[in-house]
Amino acid sequence: MGKAPHHDYYSLLARKEQYPARSAYKLQEIDDKFNVFRGASRVLDLGSSPGSWLMVARERMRPESILVGCDLQPLRISLPQNTYFFQDSIFERSHEFTESLKEFAPFDVIMSDMAPNTTGSFCTDAARSLALCEEAFAIAQEFLSSHGVLITKVFMGGDIQGYQSLLRASFVSVKSFKPKSTKKESKEIFYIAKERKIYNINE
Ligand SMILES: C[S@@+](CC[C@H](N)C(=O)[O-])C[C@H]1O[C@@H](n2cnc3c(N)ncnc32)[C@H](O)[C@@H]1O
Repeated sequence: MGKAPHHDYYSLLARKEQYPARSAYKLQEIDDKFNVFRGASRVLDLGSSPGSWLMVARERMRPESILVGCDLQPLRISLPQNTYFFQDSIFERSHEFTESLKEFAPFDVIMSDMAPNTTGSFCTDAARSLALCEEAFAIAQEFLSSHGVLITKVFMGGDIQGYQSLLRASFVSVKSFKPKSTKKESKEIFYIAKERKIYNINE
């Protein structure tokens, strides 16, 4: 039998290790490289379903730390301890989700693995992905701590340069990263932005 294709390896591994999606390994790689969870006690996960990133974050954070997630879709995992989940769109946040953001802010990490429903049109998909990143950025402007980390996934194409400039204007360090566990044919990359240039006056 021939060698399993690259993406099958991570899907099989996810099944074996009981993650609901292979995306778990992307966050593991991001954390292994950028230490995003070191010392983090409050993390916001945008686009949490089915729940792999929540599981990885939970494994890498202290048990008493707080995780807040949101997604249009329900989770396919049981809610880990000290974790709150809201079935919401980030564009139309419910009162409960907004209150929870205010209650737990400032967050040490805000991470987004959000992806639009793909239409097959490269331009439309890239534009929708960018809109999700820009909203994640807006949420970070309001709720991320001064030393916090913003992780966003963006589809290549669209005005990715404009988004990069937005991040560079607001964060001291901005790195792009394509995890090995990302499917070869995938057009997505992650931006890891650290240390805000403009601080929250309330901190
Ligand atoms: C690749 S999946 C996330 C996988 C997740 N990180 C995990 O590891 O299980 C992308 C998610 O983005 C969500 N999403 C897309 N648009 C959204 C929006 N406007 N608000 C909240 N979630 C959204 C989708 O419902 C989908 O579940």
